[in-house]
Amino acid sequence: MSQKNGKIILIVDDDDVFRNALSMTLTHEGFETTQASNGKVARDVLGVKEVHAVISDINMPVTGGIELLHYARKMKPELPFILMTGFAELKETQEAHEIGARGFLPKPFKREELMSILRECLDPPKAEPAREENQDLLYCKLSIDEFVSGHEIKYDIFVRLSEKKYVKVAHQGEDIPVDRINSYKEKNIRYLHMRREDFKRYMGFNLTLLPLVSAKKAISPEKKRNFLKHTSDVLMEHLHLAGVDEEGFQAARVVVESTTSLLAEPDEMMSVLEMLNTHSDHLYAHGLGVSTYSVMIAKKIGWKAPATLSKVAMGGLLHDIGKKEIPREVLMKPRRDMSAEEVQLYETHALRGMEILGQVATVPSDILQIVMQHHENCLGLGFPMRLTKQHIHPMARLVSVANEVCNRVLKGPSCMNLSPMEALQRMFSMQREKFDPQFLEALMNIFNVPVPDLKSEERKIA
Ligand SMILES: [Fe+2]
Repeated sequence: MSQKNGKIILIVDDDDVFRNALSMTLTHEGFETTQASNGKVARDVLGVKEVHAVISDINMPVTGGIELLHYARKMKPELPFILMTGFAELKETQEAHEIGARGFLPKPFKREELMSILRECLDPPKAEPAREENQDLLYCKLSIDEFVSGHEIKYDIFVRLSEKKYVKVAHQGEDIPVDRINSYKEKNIRYLHMRREDFKRYMGFNLTLLPLVSAKKAISPEKKRNFLKHTSDVLMEHLHLAGVDEEGFQAARVVVESTTSLLAEPDEMMSVLEMLNTHSDHLYAHGLGVSTYSVMIAKKIGWKAPATLSKVAMGGLLHDIGKKEIPREVLMKPRRDMSAEEVQLYETHALRGMEILGQVATVPSDILQIVMQHHENCLGLGFPMRLTKQHIHPMARLVSVANEVCNRVLKGPSCMNLSPMEALQRMFSMQREKFDPQFLEALMNIFNVPVPDLKSEERKIA
């Protein structure tokens, strides 16, 4: 048993057995404890007794932990308040962070976790603490849809409270019931997080599985689509946050090969495109969308060689990778709302993308050209080089059509909520000179949009 340290901890929990066990642990570590079976009793204790920290449960009868936290912040703003959280209490955890809870302990916790959080709260370092640094680069987000009922989760799961604070809400090995997942969805929680080092392993696992899933006849097309969507989401997140290296590029190859093989079934095209609008992050969905449309166009005009289709698909998937270096707040704005400086910054993404991919030795130059030129247009009014049609790489001309359709159809800052047919009609009637007609018309044919015979129209007018 440790020597007494003179600190008194108030333990608030309606579970007598748990409360007593926690009290014994703390006593063993040299603390004195006092106990309360709910928030109301705890308020009474705080009124008459000096304590140095509170460790409280969230859900308790009469008065819960959040209400108690409100009271404690008002009456004793400096008192360290630690909440015991669970995977069931994500919303409350976020709320508690905003109110000012000092620490969080995911139940069940180990003695070391308890002691570490108590030390942090009772004895905060004088200098700027390391954990106050931006934590976003240490974690990766995962769509809530990936947490399947009854499955043992393979990694610790965190909730993001702010860029400086992530809190563990579930331990590796726990099962998560489906009703809990559904309740999060109802509360609009879209993402949970895992540590970046776990994420890399998780991504590797998915990428190994993807070609097997795509090839297996027994797996339904819907399940294949969902898995493709998820894996591409995970990959794009990784490439945007960690950068593109040889490993990342090869991972992208696995994703586009599976996309291309899935699109071998014509009925799948529309389903894949519909699915893209259910992505939570439009930036990632856009890459897969442009890749999908690009492959459709390429196949329609008779580009059959797998290496060609692969380049088109890869160029489509990665065309906007340069945006990883542009602040999100700029990317979230429609172009018409950007300032002149923001437009200038935004327009650097094509060149940045080429530089990022150019550092990976195995990226073919055709893909670099797609990335560099996907905003050029046939009239010579695009960026960054203002190239005219004959100087733009054919694959870039193709991807620029796919890019424009996606901007009009898929969720995003410039989305017009159009169907692909409406988008193509407008592109043809208002902007056709910007695009290479063979690619625009190929896509119109795919969607059964009639291509007006302009020459005979002109003859009629004459
Ligand atoms: Fe772009």
